[in-house]
Amino acid sequence: MDIRQATIEDLLGMQNANLLNLPENYTFKYYLYHALTWPELSYVAVDPSGRIVGYILAKMEEEPSAEPSGHVTSISVLRPYRRLGLANKLMKQSQEAMVAHYNASYITLHVRKSNRAAISLYRDTLGFEVHIMEKGYYADGEDAYGMRYIFPKKE
Ligand code: ACO
Repeated sequence: MDIRQATIEDLLGMQNANLLNLPENYTFKYYLYHALTWPELSYVAVDPSGRIVGYILAKMEEEPSAEPSGHVTSISVLRPYRRLGLANKLMKQSQEAMVAHYNASYITLHVRKSNRAAISLYRDTLGFEVHIMEKGYYADGEDAYGMRYIFPKKE
């Protein structure tokens, strides 16, 4: 499985994977906004035929703040391709780019309280911590954990 930076041509495949995997869906315009504004931050995993089997859609925080920070809008991997380390690699690629291109100090994301697979990926594999609990964050009323990982300071 190849992991590479997402291009405009990949956006429909990413949107398709998102629709298959998650109830949080976005307009095509929003994918385009990510790809045009922060082209270095979104990645895809593709099978040998070129089909997109996983993606990370990521951005920089746009609200003014003291330190630049990255944000994962959405990440998912198609079911038959899970537990192969793809999400871990997609996250790491995007995180590296956040630091290299935008000097990000930390990265944030939201995750459903019930999403044990994703919470385990973020907390146990990638070292994120829960920094806030947002009640009723999702459209169906489920609570979210706001999670954060602070990037190690450069030497
Ligand atoms: N149960 C427990 N731990 C898990 C699971 C699981 N089902 N899946 C992953 N993990 C943890 C494990 O620690 C795993 O390491 P290990 O396999 O060595 O034990 C580690 O995460 C890395 O797993 P990956 O193989 O890199 O993860 P994968 O490619 O399977 O993708 C993902 C994980 C993205 C959560 C996938 O299950 C998925 O697409 N789920 C549906 C969509 C989703 O929930 N996306 C996240 C929403 S939140 C957001 O987008 C910000």
